[in-house]
Amino acid sequence: MSERINVNGVLGPPETACVSPLDRGFLFGDSVYETIRTYGGRPFLLREHLQRLRRSAELLEIPYDRAPVDIEPEIHRTIADAGPSEKAIRVVLTRGQGPLGYDPEPCGPPTVVIHARPCPEIPASFVREGVDVAVVDVTRNPRTSLDPAIKSSNLLNNFLAWRAAQRLGAYEPILLNASERLTEGASSNLFVVRAARLLTPPPADGILEGITRGLVLELARADGLDASEESLEADSLRSADEAFLTATLKGILPIRRCDGWPIRHGRPGPITRRLMALFEARVQVETNTGSAPGSTLK
Ligand code: PDD
Repeated sequence: MSERINVNGVLGPPETACVSPLDRGFLFGDSVYETIRTYGGRPFLLREHLQRLRRSAELLEIPYDRAPVDIEPEIHRTIADAGPSEKAIRVVLTRGQGPLGYDPEPCGPPTVVIHARPCPEIPASFVREGVDVAVVDVTRNPRTSLDPAIKSSNLLNNFLAWRAAQRLGAYEPILLNASERLTEGASSNLFVVRAARLLTPPPADGILEGITRGLVLELARADGLDASEESLEADSLRSADEAFLTATLKGILPIRRCDGWPIRHGRPGPITRRLMALFEARVQVETNTGSAPGSTLK
């Protein structure tokens, strides 16, 4: 009972869920999505995720308001039906079914899939010691192509980058853009600390503006840190004082090594640890109960 899938309001176990083979999400990756997680059973930063889902849909002209169900209550219903453990929730909105061919006119209404499953646990050692990343030779798609600002389910480029990182023995790839500037991971945003300044690549360099990234920037500034969006070269990561990844299912994960080079002797630095504590405190405030990924593990 811990995993449930809701297709256009029809809720059941994964085995019974079905989407048409003529759905544009299946045919073209013509869909947008969000990954949300619960803390203390409540979806964290739900409003921000729903706003981004709507924005992604608008940028692709997928008619969000023609969805056959009201997405927010369906998310709550799906979580409730999936039982008590902390959940990772994937919400997918496709352009709907249509005949083969690109014309979107005969398509629709959109298809809504909400998948709730137990939240994957981040190993405690990743949180304590950090993870290894590698700058891969798969470039992030340029903003003039499929704009990375759109959280689309067309994830083959991200998959190719992830596979390249696996082959290098790294946990997460770091993608450069066509101008060789740092962008982000395959499913995470990137931060570096240099000379006590917190830096992260700007949207102009081609990134998804992560919800966790936004919260980290807010927490850092409220704590008096000098935090900016700045265009960065790969060397500024390799020689960073500290670096970390952010994502909904990862929280804040320190980077231990980049391309084999230890970051700050391979131990999470003080600014990273401070931000992890501030993030944990925010989670506690928002949920009264939950905890950041990995922090409940021994
Ligand atoms: N991924 N960049 C990319 C390319 C991502 O896919 C993600 C999230 C992020 C971080 O965004 P956020 O903080 O809003 O989760 C950055 C999710 C978790 C996923 O793919 O399931």
